Amino acid sequence: MHGTNVLVTGGCGFIGSHFIKGLLSRDSSTTVINLDLLTYAGDPKNVGEWAESPRYKFVHGDIRDPELVDRLIPQVDSVFNFAAESHVDRSTGKDAGEFIKTNVYGVFVLLDAIRRLRPEIRFLQVGTDEVYGDIEAPGFPAENAILQPSSPYSASKAGADELALSFSRTHNLDVRISRCTNNYGPYQYPEKVIPLFITNALDEQPLPLYDGGTQIRDWLRVSDHCEALHLIMEKGQSGEIYNVGANQSPERSNAEITQMILAATGASASLIEPRSGLRPGHDQRYAVATDKIRDLGWAPQLDIEQGISETVSWYIENRKWWEAHKDAAYQAYYSDHYGQKKKT
Ligand code: NAD
Ligand code: TYD
Repeated sequence: MHGTNVLVTGGCGFIGSHFIKGLLSRDSSTTVINLDLLTYAGDPKNVGEWAESPRYKFVHGDIRDPELVDRLIPQVDSVFNFAAESHVDRSTGKDAGEFIKTNVYGVFVLLDAIRRLRPEIRFLQVGTDEVYGDIEAPGFPAENAILQPSSPYSASKAGADELALSFSRTHNLDVRISRCTNNYGPYQYPEKVIPLFITNALDEQPLPLYDGGTQIRDWLRVSDHCEALHLIMEKGQSGEIYNVGANQSPERSNAEITQMILAATGASASLIEPRSGLRPGHDQRYAVATDKIRDLGWAPQLDIEQGISETVSWYIENRKWWEAHKDAAYQAYYSDHYGQKKKT
């Protein structure tokens, strides 16, 4: 591992918490500072028993706070930035400003602190394949493809990538960027489609399937994404972008993923509720060329049915975790967005 003292931002969220657990497990000399604001999506318990480790320190704070960030940067040898507003549906509504503030300005605060205080350290910006926009089949954009983000979420992530690259070029910082496809697995907040449909199916609630369910996402296990991030930091190059994706073959539509969830939960197909109009600018297909990350020695697990089935088992066994997240704020978001109350 490059650098034994690591700042992980957004480490109480879905991917960041998996990443921290893996990082602390793989090398007993590594220490982690986890800087997280604990928005609705963050839960300090997501790091499990590592919360008690002397090698782990949680800092409740904001990546947009320059004074706080200035205190943390001198203590670390590398930074992984997961902190973000991450849900497309929220970015198309009244919360769009938060996406710009955290996903773009927050990245600036981190980069600027590194520039002034620790210009020799490595910075990995955790990005998304959604920056390439809607990809007509059978296209697989490489890292130098043009960016055509469709939503305020993906536009803010594209802005962050460009900003990070500008600090690499202008200030000679060691910046690396990952652009990963949709992740799934344990501890994913139940607003993204897979945990939403699993938990709704377990409660015999409707599965709001958007726009005919024909859309394609290149689903990747969160553990595979985390492995790729380690590799990019250890074996990747400064100033480079790395796409990360499963390249599922055949590609799976949202309707097929829904069927897998129904099969694994034993729920009835009658729960599927066709909806339209809830995802303005809905991208039909995401896909990326992954030769560059594979050349570093990375390969994903491709068994999506097995992955969905294991994920369903986790949500069955961890009902308390997700029920706690389906709190009053969640219910308010749910009825505001989906325009309905839970069926009783
Ligand atoms: P998440 O929403 O589960 O977690 C985000 C975390 O960031 C939360 O813990 C939240 O409290 C924290 N946070 C938000 N604003 C913050 C701020 N201003 N300061 C400090 N902490 C803040 O997100 P995720 O799904 O784990 O995604 C993590 C990163 O990976 C994001 O940058 C996202 O764009 C990227 N990504 C996600 C996916 C995916 O499928 N989920 C795919 C590719 C890339
Ligand atoms: P989502 O999990 O929100 O991830 P992203 O928008 O980052 O790809 O959505 C994945 C796909 O599932 C996307 O095509 C939209 C669709 N979807 C639904 O059909 N119903 C839902 O309630 C949600 C949240 C998403």
